[in-house]
Amino acid sequence: EAEESESAARVEALRLDADVRDARINELVAMLDTATDGVVTVDERGRILSLNKTAEALFGYDQREVTGELFTLLFAAESHAPALDYLEGLKGGGVASVMNDGREVVGRVRQGGKIPLFMTMGQIAEGTDRRFCAVLRDITAWKKTEGELVEARKAAEKASAQKSDVLAKISHEIRTPLNAIIGFAEVMAEERFGPIANERYKEYLRDIHQSGGYVISLVNDLLDLAKIEAGKLDLDFVSVNLNEIALSTVSLLQPEAQRGRVVLRSGLSPKLPPVVADQRSIRQIVINLLSNAVKFTDAGGQVIISTALGDQGEAILRVRDTGIGMDDKEIALALEPFRQVPTTRRAGGTGLGLPLTKALVEANRAAMSITSVKKEGTLVEITFPPQRVLAGEVGGGGSAEGRRESRTPAHRCRSSSAKR
Ligand SMILES: Nc1ncnc2c1ncn2[C@@H]1O[C@H](COP(=O)(O)OP(=O)(O)OP(=O)(O)O)[C@@H](O)[C@H]1O
Ligand SMILES: [Mg+2]
Repeated sequence: EAEESESAARVEALRLDADVRDARINELVAMLDTATDGVVTVDERGRILSLNKTAEALFGYDQREVTGELFTLLFAAESHAPALDYLEGLKGGGVASVMNDGREVVGRVRQGGKIPLFMTMGQIAEGTDRRFCAVLRDITAWKKTEGELVEARKAAEKASAQKSDVLAKISHEIRTPLNAIIGFAEVMAEERFGPIANERYKEYLRDIHQSGGYVISLVNDLLDLAKIEAGKLDLDFVSVNLNEIALSTVSLLQPEAQRGRVVLRSGLSPKLPPVVADQRSIRQIVINLLSNAVKFTDAGGQVIISTALGDQGEAILRVRDTGIGMDDKEIALALEPFRQVPTTRRAGGTGLGLPLTKALVEANRAAMSITSVKKEGTLVEITFPPQRVLAGEVGGGGSAEGRRESRTPAHRCRSSSAKR
């Protein structure tokens, strides 16, 4: 009797166990049906065992109709091979099963029509009864957004190219007549074909000449900026002696520095080798930086231009001033075309200098960095990477001999570097 009741208890326990397990399974099935991804289970030959509710809705099949069919039934012809490949890879248990990061496939719905899907497969049962599941995510919306983004980017690039093109044309059109204005003002100011009677007229001529010069430098900056943007700036990469350019620019700006009672001096490394760069743009870079430093430094301040050879073999050009300085926000602003930091002093200029300088630096494969502290000063560093430094040739003295020798390596990279 005792035995009987014992086995009855055991049966009861097993029944309870089975109930718990059933409940758990139903729970899992319900969860799978709630999932927004389609889930399809297949045997190792790829025959469909089950579809969750989402998969049924996605493809328009009832699970019972497709059980036993190859799962490629659910895919467009072009995705049959990739889907079977994927399954084979998992079965092989090699790299493919470890590096399992899913793939895009094209689904085929019963009523006709295709849907882009992202499929991830995995093994769910091993041994003689191997089974796999495929999780299928409808990526229609994502694909649509992706397509729109690609279109939008193409349109923006086209618009930007057109803008640069128009800017380049206009600049060119302005420059031609402006050269006539400047040239003839010069001829008249020099009274080459006879004297000008009234002193006032001479004064006006100087104004015309000066204003013309200002407009042409503005137009040149604009043209350069447009060309750089369009990747059409003509750079002539040769061996460039940074020390020489620094010295000549210091002399050029010395009068302006003296007028503002700013000490302008240089500290050049005699060991500095020449760099591969475009002579004209380096000159323009140094002029822009030095003129900014002088312009934004109050009387009694200092501006120093220096060069150095870095530890990694890079060539560095530094322009340091003890001027009004900028905070980080102002630096960002200063680097935008036509933007000037609303400083206390009205300094003139158009706000094109710095963005153009940065673009020119980058077109020369160098890097520009600005560090600045308000009321303390600013340091601008131009760094030429070692690949752009003609090692073994000391350019400090600027001997003609050294420059001629360095022609060869400099010219070699000329054609490939002309475009951005
Ligand atoms: N060394 C500096 N110290 C402090 N502020 C500076 C310095 N260099 C540039 N800035 C700030 O950045 C702004 C932009 O400089 P940028 O050279 O582009 O224009 P600009 O000198 O005003 O005019 P442009 O150079 O076109 O004649 C300046 O107006 C100034 O406010
Ligand atoms: Mg400037």
